[in-house]
Amino acid sequence: MNGPVISLGGSIFSKNDENYLLKFIERIGKEESYALVVGGGPVARDEIARLRKIGAKEYYLDMMGIQATRLNASMVSLALGNLMEVPESIDEAVRQMKLYKRVIMGGTEPGHTTDAVSLLLAEALNRDTVVNVTNVDYLYDRDPKINGAKKVENISYSGAVEMITSEKRGAGANFPLDILSLNIARRSNIGIKIVSFRDQENVFKAITGKKFKGTTVS
Ligand code: UTP
Repeated sequence: MNGPVISLGGSIFSKNDENYLLKFIERIGKEESYALVVGGGPVARDEIARLRKIGAKEYYLDMMGIQATRLNASMVSLALGNLMEVPESIDEAVRQMKLYKRVIMGGTEPGHTTDAVSLLLAEALNRDTVVNVTNVDYLYDRDPKINGAKKVENISYSGAVEMITSEKRGAGANFPLDILSLNIARRSNIGIKIVSFRDQENVFKAITGKKFKGTTVS
């Protein structure tokens, strides 16, 4: 299958949302081929916060985050009955894809998030789409907590970059993509579909190229 790379946001690993994760695993397990990149979720957040309290440098916080993403990737991999190692680089992931038609990975190196990993993997595998399965249903034209925030169904790469840097949104406001990911997407013309993990039918519509509810960045 030449389907999209699927980026499973860390939020789906929270205890409260476990059912969505288990259902996703059940469903993706029916596919013969898939490329999954898995986020760090609460484990990453908690362990990074603990290390930060004792003054660890950002590099080491990232290293901790990467370990959490790989732990989650191992869980998904084992749940799917795969015994391959979780690849630690894009090159390794590409080799696994060629050998087994499946790959499940977490982070690679410090300095970015698994969103960027999913875009790099899409580049390396020559895929034209990344489906970002996350905890928001759409991008909004401002912080979705602000009254009157409007859903955005389609947006250009530069429009999304502008959104991230917009003052309206405020520093640290939750945004499902970062600028590095958008730049990689733009240079290789990879479309990014943002969908909420809470509606599985919709997630698989996005994955199989059907009309879906969510935001497309292209
Ligand atoms: P995530 O990809 O889950 O980060 O990686 P995130 O975007 O902060 O989390 P979600 O998607 O909103 O839940 C967790 C952390 O691991 C490190 C970063 O510190 C990141 O914040 N990381 C991850 C890396 O340093 N490199 C990687 O390739 C991946």
